[in-house]
Amino acid sequence: MNIEQSVALVTGANRGIGRALVQALLAAGAAKVYAAARSVEKLNDLATDLRVVAVPIDVTDDRSITALAKRAADVTLLINNAGVLDFGSVLDAPQNAFERNFGTNFYGVLSMSRAFAPVIERNGGGAIVNILTLVALASMPGLGVYNASKAAAWSLTQSLRAALSGRKIAVYGVFPGAVDTDMLAGVEMPKTSPEDVARSVVAGISQCVEDIFPDPMSASLYEAWKKDHKAVEKQFATM
Ligand SMILES: NC(=O)c1ccc[n+]([C@@H]2O[C@H](COP(=O)([O-])OP(=O)(O)OC[C@H]3O[C@@H](n4cnc5c(N)ncnc54)[C@H](OP(=O)(O)O)[C@@H]3O)[C@@H](O)[C@H]2O)c1
Repeated sequence: MNIEQSVALVTGANRGIGRALVQALLAAGAAKVYAAARSVEKLNDLATDLRVVAVPIDVTDDRSITALAKRAADVTLLINNAGVLDFGSVLDAPQNAFERNFGTNFYGVLSMSRAFAPVIERNGGGAIVNILTLVALASMPGLGVYNASKAAAWSLTQSLRAALSGRKIAVYGVFPGAVDTDMLAGVEMPKTSPEDVARSVVAGISQCVEDIFPDPMSASLYEAWKKDHKAVEKQFATM
């Protein structure tokens, strides 16, 4: 996809990977970027670039999504980045953790994609990009709730790709490893910066790479997974 002619929309743009994605899109020459967040006042510094339009979104609220699809009617590139992570195993985590993770990470992506596919199509085509995770490929039991929601979103990504293939809308899945944002604050392990991840994501979109592994951890684990996915499952099961 040609980033320079794109009108992008990034959810969860106020911090972490979303904020870095807005900056990477601007650096790559995007014509316009809708930076979408639950609190628009947290987007003030991004909106100093005249190509940025700060807009409200809660991806779990259908009215918010419908209003944004009307307002951002020129979008050609949707990046479903907003996400939540609750730690906990599938046996012990409370029911509301499943609802929160599936509500944002799965239904949020589904609702945003349904609302914006017609918008992108009307604008002559473009792309939808879903920020998934490496642990969608193989589960780490301590992240059981989150893993399940993201694995479901991976399946959704594949279904969307097939459903939209005849409508000039490409669908990309992004599978980051550990990234240094609030989401993993307090978890001590090697992490990639959100800026490096965002640059790799934008490069992957512009090179039409359907499945993007945007950091060294995810790229090497993907190679191992392709050779022996059961070995990766067993490795993750001990973590
Ligand atoms: N960090 C990692 O290691 C890692 C690895 C793989 C994949 N990812 C994925 O990357 C994406 C971004 O994560 P991050 O690391 O940047 O995490 P983060 O720093 O915790 O940021 C999460 C973002 O999502 C937004 N958000 C959450 N629920 C929302 C909702 N209902 N409506 C709109 N926005 C909502 C948050 O907004 P508020 O500020 O309003 O809460 C925030 O902007 C997520 O999908 C995450 O699963 C992260």
